[in-house]
Amino acid sequence: MTEDARMRPVERLLIVGAGLMGSGIAQVAALAGKAVILTDFDPALGAAQERIATSFGRLVRRGTLTSEQREAASARVETTTDTEGAACDADLVIEAIIENLQAKQSLFAMLDKVCAPDVVLATNTSQFQIGRIAQPCVHGARVIGMHWSNPPILMRLVEVILSADTSPATLEVAEDFIRSCDREFVVCRKDVPGFISNRLSTVLFMEGARLVDEEIATPAEIDSVARLMFGHRMGPLETLDLAGLDTALAASRALAAHYGGDRFTPPPVLSRLVDEGRLGRKSGSGFYTESK
Ligand SMILES: NC(=O)c1ccc[n+]([C@@H]2O[C@H](COP(=O)([O-])OP(=O)(O)OC[C@H]3O[C@@H](n4cnc5c(N)ncnc54)[C@H](O)[C@@H]3O)[C@@H](O)[C@H]2O)c1
Repeated sequence: MTEDARMRPVERLLIVGAGLMGSGIAQVAALAGKAVILTDFDPALGAAQERIATSFGRLVRRGTLTSEQREAASARVETTTDTEGAACDADLVIEAIIENLQAKQSLFAMLDKVCAPDVVLATNTSQFQIGRIAQPCVHGARVIGMHWSNPPILMRLVEVILSADTSPATLEVAEDFIRSCDREFVVCRKDVPGFISNRLSTVLFMEGARLVDEEIATPAEIDSVARLMFGHRMGPLETLDLAGLDTALAASRALAAHYGGDRFTPPPVLSRLVDEGRLGRKSGSGFYTESK
């Protein structure tokens, strides 16, 4: 996309990856009136539909959403395993697949071939540099970071990350889309791993996990300090359980490898829990045994 390119209004949104984040962003966009196509492999799509229905149901019970709004939003979310086919008619693509650079690069190579050049390609990566994800793309100016936080339905801020090649027109499309979803944004102007949010949060999360590892306090005690002394809505260990310990482990390892030193290094307890299949809420157990 060049700077003077025609802006394409976003009516049809493709979200690739129907896990925690992809299904959450789908909910937000569908509530904002967008037609959403959510793609993934088969079993993940069924789980995503259940997750969306459960979350919408909770909002209706709380009175945040009417049943009519739920029906209308649910009807706007389609699912398919055919990402390439769905990419042909998308106005905007948000990638929310696993945090693996090679997987993201091969997806972006395909999207860059299939999508018209005025279609913005956004990645929800937690920490990879946007320029690295965009490396295989011919039209790298249309690639941007759009980092939602979990759960998207509740969180108000989206972090937008520019690569050295991201065009102003691409930024404008991303900003308009986020505004149209009734969200605010902050722009991270340098393409650094972890951006603003994950450089800040990973330090706290890993230190919380280290306190558990060193048997200094229980997860509940550490989380109480963050909530009741710092005024955080959630403590670091309950947030890690919510985010998924596998995702957090991969992100902290990558930040530690890039920046060096100890500030982002995950303590052994994190890899131990992941090796045991205790991934947090999504597997029913993590730092906490019962989903909270
Ligand atoms: N979990 C969080 O709190 C959080 C917050 C912000 C950003 N992120 C980032 O968002 C992305 C997704 O995270 P998540 O927590 O939703 O992960 P997740 O493991 O819940 O979901 C990832 C999904 O991607 C699918 N997938 C993998 N390769 C695919 C491909 N080639 N095509 C289609 N689908 C594919 C998997 O089947 C899975 O369903 C990651 O980059 C992560 O770092 C996560």
